[in-house]
Amino acid sequence: MEYSRFYYCALLIISISGLVFPVMVGSIGINYGQIANNLPTPDNVVPLVKSIGATKVKLYDADPRVLKAFGNTGVEFIVGLGNEYLSKMRDQETAQAWVKTNVQAYLPATKIICITIGNEVLTFNDTSLTDHLFPAMQNIHTALVNLGLDKQVAVTTAHSLAILEVSYPPSAGSFRKDLVGCITPILNFLCKTNSPFLINAYPFFAYKSNPKQISLDFVLFQPNQGIVDSKSNLHYDNMLFAQIDAVHSALASLGYSKLPVHISETGWPSKGDADEVGATLENAKKYNGNLLKIICQRKGTPMRPNTDLNIYVFALFNENMKPGPTSERNYGLFKPDGTAAYSLGIRGTDAVSANTTTTTTTTIGAPAPPSPDSSSPGYLSISAAVKVSPCLLCGAFTFDVFVVVSCTNLRMSCLVA
Ligand SMILES: *[C@@H]1O[C@H](CO)[C@@H](O)[C@H](O)[C@H]1NC(C)=O
Ligand SMILES: *[C@@H]1O[C@H](CO)[C@@H](O)[C@H](O)[C@H]1NC(C)=O
Repeated sequence: MEYSRFYYCALLIISISGLVFPVMVGSIGINYGQIANNLPTPDNVVPLVKSIGATKVKLYDADPRVLKAFGNTGVEFIVGLGNEYLSKMRDQETAQAWVKTNVQAYLPATKIICITIGNEVLTFNDTSLTDHLFPAMQNIHTALVNLGLDKQVAVTTAHSLAILEVSYPPSAGSFRKDLVGCITPILNFLCKTNSPFLINAYPFFAYKSNPKQISLDFVLFQPNQGIVDSKSNLHYDNMLFAQIDAVHSALASLGYSKLPVHISETGWPSKGDADEVGATLENAKKYNGNLLKIICQRKGTPMRPNTDLNIYVFALFNENMKPGPTSERNYGLFKPDGTAAYSLGIRGTDAVSANTTTTTTTTIGAPAPPSPDSSSPGYLSISAAVKVSPCLLCGAFTFDVFVVVSCTNLRMSCLVA
């Protein structure tokens, strides 16, 4: 009975979808830094990105190998123009050539949606760099206009939270006074071009510099009393939300309360030097695991409860050639060999190997018990991870993994039938 079989399938899909999909829509971004000499090839990174349910990737450059590998994957990209190129972009011809080679060439197969011009430029206090920032942003934008791409590709720059003079309480957030002069034209530009304001926010730094005063649970999104901002009366149960709302306040104080704020970086290192308090595997696991759950729940901050968080986790890989303290080389969710740096408490991320290809047809076996320290060889194949990825994190229950997988299979058998 073809009809009843179809009906049965359709009914199942509808009811299963109804069960699972409403909770899965938050969209995860990940930073793909490559200051390392031991990372997997970009082709092998595609399944890793999918395994954590990430649909957005941020690069610090416009690596052609990466942009090619992610063609036709549906993953959205932010590409970066490094600080060292800002001065060159004062020349419109050069800006035009850069956009042609690094952006236009990959569209539309690779969904490049944004270009960040420089990273944390304003907090270097280097006027020779700062002076080039806004002109470079303008010229890159003009290049996009000339190529008819300005409606699909935004131009912005990513800031360090240190551009704030006051970040606590959130309602008192304000920009460093000496930066207001150069931030204002940038804000005006972002507003006019419909582009987001990007901030890199690390509760880890706040905790590290003041571990006696700051509650670890508050910074790690663990259950805690939280704080009440006495001016706004808003309750905060985690530091990241307080930091984001401080940015909202700073923007509002200059008249840009409507500018969308995206978190271009946040994360927690799994290892650090002896003086880097809090940089442990357990803490990284809690911070990033809880963060991903919050993103998937589509929670907003107390000041913007109905606005999705737009967060790019830092970072995909541990990067062995980064200078600085040990923590700098240990922000990755993955080790260079493609295994998880630690368990995020989320099924599917623990066992995906960069070596496996998407043609693997391994089926899902019995769920492994939660592994506290990662790296138990996996029950979840890449091909499965790819299909179920967005649901995986958000369900966070073994049950959902099975439901979603059978949903995928059902869909196929229905189409065939
Ligand atoms: C930049 O200047 C500000 C304000 O004068 C200061 O607080 C900050 O430490 C400086 N940053 C660097 C990296 O020198
Ligand atoms: C990946 O595959 C290569 C060649 O088959 C092998 O030498 C290497 O050990 C594998 N790496 C991992 C992480 O499985």
